[in-house]
Amino acid sequence: MTQRFGFQVHATDGKARTGTISTPRGEIRTPAFMPVGTAATVKAMMPESVRATGADILLGNTYHLMLRPTAERIAALGGLHRFMNWERPILTDSGGFQVMSLSSLRKLTEEGVRFSSHIDGSKHMLTPERSMEIQKLLGSDIVMCFDECPALPATDDVVAKSMRMSMRWAQRSRDAFGDRPGHALFGIMQGGVTRDLREESAEALKSIGFDGYAVGGLAVGEGQEAMFSVLDYAPGFLPEDKPRYLMGVGKPDDIVGAVERGIDMMDCVLPSRSGRTGQAWTRRGQVNIKNQRHQDDPRPLDEHCTCPACRNYSRAYLHHVFRAQEIISSMLLTWHNLHYYQELMQGLRDAIFENRLQSFVADFHAERAQGDI
Ligand code: GUN
Ligand code: ZN
Repeated sequence: MTQRFGFQVHATDGKARTGTISTPRGEIRTPAFMPVGTAATVKAMMPESVRATGADILLGNTYHLMLRPTAERIAALGGLHRFMNWERPILTDSGGFQVMSLSSLRKLTEEGVRFSSHIDGSKHMLTPERSMEIQKLLGSDIVMCFDECPALPATDDVVAKSMRMSMRWAQRSRDAFGDRPGHALFGIMQGGVTRDLREESAEALKSIGFDGYAVGGLAVGEGQEAMFSVLDYAPGFLPEDKPRYLMGVGKPDDIVGAVERGIDMMDCVLPSRSGRTGQAWTRRGQVNIKNQRHQDDPRPLDEHCTCPACRNYSRAYLHHVFRAQEIISSMLLTWHNLHYYQELMQGLRDAIFENRLQSFVADFHAERAQGDI
């Protein structure tokens, strides 16, 4: 195993790239989809099952883990990898984004964010320095800068002020992170849907210098068209030789569009969360297993899928266990959804490598347009 963090692009097709991120905990094939393991678990999945779906890396959350069970407790128990029994790479988000959406009584200043826990109301402070300390205690392989993401729509003035503070926080994150061979620090571009602000943010991050660069502040209510129009230029403002990570995205068609525009990594709760609400994602689009039409259907969710839910169970069974609120319902649908997402990523990687991304994308859309069986 390599002891350093690195990124190698193996092939490009248009703006899309396929490559490998190397870390001491293993390699990450890109474009990569990272399942979300917010509270030190990908809900309803054993870690070995998450791996079996094809995941190379998981995402964890500073905000949740600092509140419960606390970063200090996880560190004393040997770090997050050992705690949750996932030996491969972990990326942790820095907390700012989750504070703004989950906590109450938030007070945002230049110093950081003071807030009350959504769990027990206890008071906490997150700053760039404290976020770096927590992510180090967790043992995160890819650490994210502490940033602020304004809710859209917002005026250019609000977005600019917020972005400039995030860039000052990025410098403070860089200084506090220090030099940690084998661990990476990623900067996060902000700037809303305004091209000049995105460019200014990218320039600020590049002059600080990071191991990778995230596109933040998207998928916050602007819609796919607006997101794609930012992705038409934003990845091009970032260094070609470093990974580009689109945060919190997305639906399968968002992922395909982002990869076409030069994104290398993504994360989203969608496949795992929707597995728990009876939504399945297949090559033919979205399937609502709650629907009555499945109750006598002996066919699998997707006859071509090799996941345990599709190999061993009928739609009628999946419908029944969802209606009966059986735990296996969440297990099977989450497994299927994560398997589908990882198959999609493998398909994208192969297509880019073989220079046939356009026909892959055309087939992807054509199959979905047929609708469910
Ligand atoms: N997750 C989704 N979007 C964002 C963002 O803009 N910043 C951070 N830190 N996390 C995110
Ligand atoms: Zn399946």
